[in-house]
Amino acid sequence: MAHMGVTAAWMSACTGLLAPTQAHEVHGQTLTTLGRQVVLRADAPSVSPTHSARALYVLHCAGCHSLDGSGSVSARVPDMRQLGLFLQVPGGREFLIQVPGVMGSGLNDEQVAQVTNWVLSSMASASIPAQHREFDAAEVSRARRDPLVDVAGQRAVLVQRAQQLGLKMAQSP
Ligand code: HEC
Repeated sequence: MAHMGVTAAWMSACTGLLAPTQAHEVHGQTLTTLGRQVVLRADAPSVSPTHSARALYVLHCAGCHSLDGSGSVSARVPDMRQLGLFLQVPGGREFLIQVPGVMGSGLNDEQVAQVTNWVLSSMASASIPAQHREFDAAEVSRARRDPLVDVAGQRAVLVQRAQQLGLKMAQSP
């Protein structure tokens, strides 16, 4: 019910800022509005855009990575649909968290874990190893303490390690 609290706070902020013109009785509460009655619904869906991991992806990642994760060759955004290969290469797990798009996303550790787990289990599901273990906030926090200085260089190292293990990880676009 957190969203109801937010809605109530928002409404009281609005009614405080704007001169109210009407008062209504709704479910025992008096609401003042600018001429339009707002009816509170107990079953209203959450209006929070960051409700789900998929929504986090759409809002914070898809602009560059595209909705299906295919990326963009011209903008040099890699295809994420084989992302699970990184999980099998030493240094690859941290890399998924340390890339600038994630480090600078403004998402907290829990949200980064959620969105990364979602990417891996949806668009990249065919590439994740059998013994896959999901990211949690603690692992994200540890990885974030160590940002990458040379993203392309580190990725090239990982591609090479993958090759040595017989995994076909694509070069950077
Ligand atoms: C401003 C564009 C942009 C945004 C927004 C962005 N990324 Fe990226 N991402 C890139 C680019 C470009 C690369 C390639 C590495 C580099 O140059 O940073 C990349 C690389 C990655 C990689 C490594 C993939 C590989 O094959 O090397 C992962 C994982 C990743 N991004 C995840 C995310 C997630 C998750 C989000 C959302 C929280 C996100 N990115 C948001 C542009 C972006």
